[in-house]
Amino acid sequence: MIGRLNHVAIAVPDLDAAIAQYRDTLGAQVGAPQDEPDHGVRVVFITLPNTKIELLHPLGDASPIQGFLDKNPAGGIHHICYEVEDILAARDHLRGSGARVLGDGTPKIGAHGNPVLFLHPKDFTGTLVELEQI
Ligand code: CO
Repeated sequence: MIGRLNHVAIAVPDLDAAIAQYRDTLGAQVGAPQDEPDHGVRVVFITLPNTKIELLHPLGDASPIQGFLDKNPAGGIHHICYEVEDILAARDHLRGSGARVLGDGTPKIGAHGNPVLFLHPKDFTGTLVELEQI
C-alpha cells in the first residue's frame, strides 16, 4: 500500500543553523522557509536525489514541535512520510487493522498542497508516520 519515502522530517531548535549546515556543510539544495500556521510550523524542504528532508521549527505558542523540542533539545527525527495513492482507502485499511489515525481522521492539506494524515507512533514501532496522497 505505501509507496515511496516522500520525506524525513527533523525538528530543529535553530532553523538558520540547520539551513546553513545542510546548504554549506552537506552541500544540499535547500529551499526557502515556508510558514504553515495551521500546523504550527515553519518548514524548510531540502531536496535530495531520492527523497526530501523537511526541517521543522515551531511557529506560534501552541506548536506541537515545541513540545518535541522540550523533550529533545538538540532536535531529532520527528516523523517519516510515505506516499499513498488513495489516502482515504489507506486510512480505512489501517483503521481496520487496529492502527490509530491521529485527529478525527479527516486528511489535512500538508506542506505540498496534498492531503496528509498522521498515524500513532505507538502503533508503528515508535515512529510518527505521515501518509501523503500523491
Ligand atoms: Co511531513
